[in-house]
Amino acid sequence: MVPESLKNLEKEVQQCKNCPLYLSRNNIVFSDGYFGAKIMLIGEAPGADEDKQGKPFVGRAGKLLNEFLKAAGINREKDLYIVNTLKCRPPKNAKPTKEQKTACEKFLNAQIDIIKPKIIVLCGATAMESFLDKKLKISKVRGQIFENIKNYKGIKFIPILHPSYLLRQHSTDVGSPRDLTLKDLIMIKKTALG
Ligand code: URA
Repeated sequence: MVPESLKNLEKEVQQCKNCPLYLSRNNIVFSDGYFGAKIMLIGEAPGADEDKQGKPFVGRAGKLLNEFLKAAGINREKDLYIVNTLKCRPPKNAKPTKEQKTACEKFLNAQIDIIKPKIIVLCGATAMESFLDKKLKISKVRGQIFENIKNYKGIKFIPILHPSYLLRQHSTDVGSPRDLTLKDLIMIKKTALG
């Protein structure tokens, strides 16, 4: 049973007018996956497909993410709770602004407080910047475990490359972005699920 607190939060997001994105959205994109999962994955923002379906990571990037999850042995429905930094689509998939992130951050923080994951996967630079030092480069720190972040004692934060970036990187050679991402996800699975 989905906790009442999560249902109420979703209703709150549906009514949100904290930034102008509510004017252009078709649907809010609240979450997908299992609320009891040990791993929470945070992406950037909904794209056109996500806005249409009201679910995160269902477009091209989502399909690639699914392939990587499968290859790493992570079950999207059972092992993962998936959200985005922004709950509404920025028109033309523009990079989220500081104002949009600020307007939306209380919802993301509330999702973390309710889900209480063991691991938070920061999928891409936007998600990473909300939690880690903004000077860090995702290509340098992906796959590293960060602890004692903000008030989140006991949660391991692990950045990974975003699947939209991987869509443009085709090599699977050892050390390529795709190879490193698969290794990161295998490590994440081991750390969270044994
Ligand atoms: N990219 C994201 O970061 N999130 C989605 O939901 C889809 C694409």
